[in-house]
Amino acid sequence: MLRVEETQAPVEFSPELISKFDDVKSRYPAGKQKSALLPILHLVQAEFGWLSAAAMDKVAGYLQIQDIEVYEVATFYSMYFLNPKGKYVLEVCRTGPCCLVGAEKIMDYLEEKLGVKEGEVTADGLFSWRGVECLAACGFGPVLQIGPEYTFYENLTKDSVDKLIKDLKEKGKN
Ligand code: FES
Repeated sequence: MLRVEETQAPVEFSPELISKFDDVKSRYPAGKQKSALLPILHLVQAEFGWLSAAAMDKVAGYLQIQDIEVYEVATFYSMYFLNPKGKYVLEVCRTGPCCLVGAEKIMDYLEEKLGVKEGEVTADGLFSWRGVECLAACGFGPVLQIGPEYTFYENLTKDSVDKLIKDLKEKGKN
């Protein structure tokens, strides 16, 4: 379930990050600074790993818009994370065609294998997983993607999930 994580932890944006904000904002006409919201949220997420309420409020302050305008956008697009996430987020398509060929079983298996529920983070910080809507690979389900490169893994089975997690654990050590 999607929820805005409440945090009291103050967030500070570095001068370097603000400079990137300024660069993005300068691409839009005066008075249309709200148009810079999506790329600025991406910059914040790249810096902090996810979007806390405190960070979103600060973005609202920077763009001189209402906090709710930032929440509306951040909660609409699934590429924004409103809670801490693992280094690797396994996003499983949970739309009808993939469910017909076992997507729900793959999600159950991920929960069992990783020992965390949807949206939670493994103790080593490496993994989280979640269901997402159609990934446009409907003929190759069950399918999952892993950002930020959005690599696809298709025709998933328990064995291929085992191999994927093993490979990512190896990669994650580096
Ligand atoms: S339904 Fe799963 S990729 Fe389209």
